Amino acid sequence: MSSQSRAGAGAGAAGGGNMVLEAENVQVSYGKVTALRGVDLELGEGELVSLIGPNGAGKTTFCDTVNGFLPFGGSVRFRGTEVSSVSRDELVDRGMIYCTEERDLFGFMDVEDNLRLGAYAIDDESYVEQQLEFVYDLFPRLEERTDQNARSMSGGEQQMLAIGRALMGDPDLLVLDEPTIGLAPVILEDISQAIDPIQEQGVSILLTEQNVTFALDHADRMYLLENGEVVKTGTPEELRGDDYIRETYLGG
Ligand SMILES: Nc1ncnc2c1ncn2[C@@H]1O[C@H](COP(=O)(O)OP(=O)(O)OP(=O)(O)O)[C@@H](O)[C@H]1O
Ligand SMILES: [Mg+2]
Repeated sequence: MSSQSRAGAGAGAAGGGNMVLEAENVQVSYGKVTALRGVDLELGEGELVSLIGPNGAGKTTFCDTVNGFLPFGGSVRFRGTEVSSVSRDELVDRGMIYCTEERDLFGFMDVEDNLRLGAYAIDDESYVEQQLEFVYDLFPRLEERTDQNARSMSGGEQQMLAIGRALMGDPDLLVLDEPTIGLAPVILEDISQAIDPIQEQGVSILLTEQNVTFALDHADRMYLLENGEVVKTGTPEELRGDDYIRETYLGG
């Protein structure tokens, strides 16, 4: 299946209009620890929405929740379908593709096998070949290393591979959990340059970040999460002009 063939899939879904993701009053606890305290977030067609926040704010918990990995209170709809009402496989089939913080690569497999595994659920072989070419154009470092084992690659190369693999799954909504963490500036630039072409493919993106500058550079809209609560929301322009954001996250 290609993005084109899936395009109508959400059209008949109840409500939602052109909303890709709608989270309402999302609450998650791990035993006595409350990680999300009523989070509301919306992500429209083709948007890049960034959820920023410090360590422990609840970013990964939110990503895990929308991807159907955690029990939660409230509501999360992906193109109008409540995520808790469908299986993980079904969410992936519908195009919700999650690039986790841990990257989850197959370390003993080479680059190309990792990429092809990202397309395991896709029958359209011409789409797979075309998308492989797209990923290699996006990240030439991967093309130079098609036969290299994933575990022998640098952290930055592994991050590119993780994003590339997610792209092979024909995402409608791509969830990127802190893709820039621990990366050197030169690699950060490579990741940065990949974002626009991905959006231009028609992919909507939920990006979590501690790197507020990176998020400001790429987001259409942003949410600041602190201690499980959204405390600010707005466009990058609005948040750049916000005293609290400037003082707390941009060094004054
Ligand atoms: N499996 C778990 N069991 C218990 N508590 C957890 C678990 N996972 C996360 N937490 C707690 O939930 C809160 C939110 O964690 P989460 O990993 O979502 O934050 P984060 O914003 O992704 O942080 P980081 O930037 O460090 O990745 C933290 O207080 C964390 O200790
Ligand atoms: Mg996290």
